[in-house]
Amino acid sequence: MQFFDSEYFTYKNNRLYCEGTDISEITGTVGTPVFIYSKKFFTDHYRKFAGAFSAIDHTIFYAVKSNYNLNVIKTFYDLGSGIDVNSAGEFYRAVKAGVDPKRMILTGVGKTRNEIKLGIENEVQFIKAESEQEIYLIDKIAGELGKVAPVAIRVNPDVDPETHPYISTGLAENKFGIDSKSAYGLFLKASNLKNIKLTGIDMHIGSQITSVEPYKEAVEKLAGMFRSLRDEGVELTHFDIGGGMGVKYKNEKPFTPRELAEAILPVLSDLDCKISFEPGRYLTANGGILVTEVLYTKTNQKKNFIVVDAAMTDLLRPSIYGAYHHIQPVTLSDGGNDIVADVVGPVCESGDFLAKGRTISECKPQDQLAVFSAGAYAMVMSSNYNGRRRPPEIMVDGDKFYTIRSRETYEHLLFDEKINKELFEN
Ligand code: LLP
Repeated sequence: MQFFDSEYFTYKNNRLYCEGTDISEITGTVGTPVFIYSKKFFTDHYRKFAGAFSAIDHTIFYAVKSNYNLNVIKTFYDLGSGIDVNSAGEFYRAVKAGVDPKRMILTGVGKTRNEIKLGIENEVQFIKAESEQEIYLIDKIAGELGKVAPVAIRVNPDVDPETHPYISTGLAENKFGIDSKSAYGLFLKASNLKNIKLTGIDMHIGSQITSVEPYKEAVEKLAGMFRSLRDEGVELTHFDIGGGMGVKYKNEKPFTPRELAEAILPVLSDLDCKISFEPGRYLTANGGILVTEVLYTKTNQKKNFIVVDAAMTDLLRPSIYGAYHHIQPVTLSDGGNDIVADVVGPVCESGDFLAKGRTISECKPQDQLAVFSAGAYAMVMSSNYNGRRRPPEIMVDGDKFYTIRSRETYEHLLFDEKINKELFEN
């Protein structure tokens, strides 16, 4: 079998380590399934991204939707990152992590009145509007609050990011943003609204994008609009590129932040404005693994199955996108054979799998497996389906590990749900 290439998760004496910490030591303490993150990965990747754009005035707004554990948010915030929140719930988490709302931006295609109010009252850096109606609503709410709201307009540049259709967002057929034809006129109209200060043009064309070309194409389209608006007297102060920078799950060859900088900065340099980014996956995906224990192995006429204690409830990506996540043993054994197997979870759905037809070392009950690239869109997309408790999250820092969220208890599954006696009285 192939090994995942990572300097943060490596074998020493046939045992998998995260940085200087033995994975088996973690699972021996907190059990499985468990998410394990490398703090060094997060730090290195933030610095690599920021370093690539150090020559220009820029802000990175970490997209917390990819991993919103408070400690992950704080790790990026402490490094100097701003924070992109997509809902009141993400705003709440960011505040709990110690983030100043002035260093947040509020995004989302369907913000509620309350979310807009929350953003304005707490003076987020800007709110990204995604429809004409939303712009007027922001103006109205800001007026009621006696404030002027900073607003960027998300423009859909209609370019193909060549990614999975569910995570492509910059095509005309997608629900996101305002089409580039209407956007120009809308900017002009919105510039006359009293309770709004237009701050910038925003785009986000999709996720897991592995080529710089779609960025270049979109930036070229929107930079033209930026210049024309400036000529019309609409002074914008930033251009927001969004997120979407792809990572390696299998054989992808994603671009580096430096390559992105080389592709887009020449187009943006004469705009003389601040450039913003909203990366999520790039900063988190390969900083995490999900460790699971083998419960059973079995073979039928057609297939080998490895039944593990993690499921689609912990890592949904394989089920809904057919996503590939590399899987390899936590402890390597000498002379083991490779087999081809489906790695499946305990949930009663045929869609509950972590891998299909995967070449993997033969394993037996109680062996542990590491599922790679589980730092982004993993824990945040987990659920309690089948009455399953969410796994704990651990952050490793060198040779120490810290529980940053415990395994859920059965009480968590109920929250405040109880038998309502009145319902059964008559
Ligand atoms: N900004 C906006 C407005 C977004 O909608 C997103 C992601 C990001 C930034 C961060 O994108 P990233 O850099 O992480 O690609 N659940 C899917 C991914 C959905 C992405 C949603 N929006 C997956 O597991 O692949």
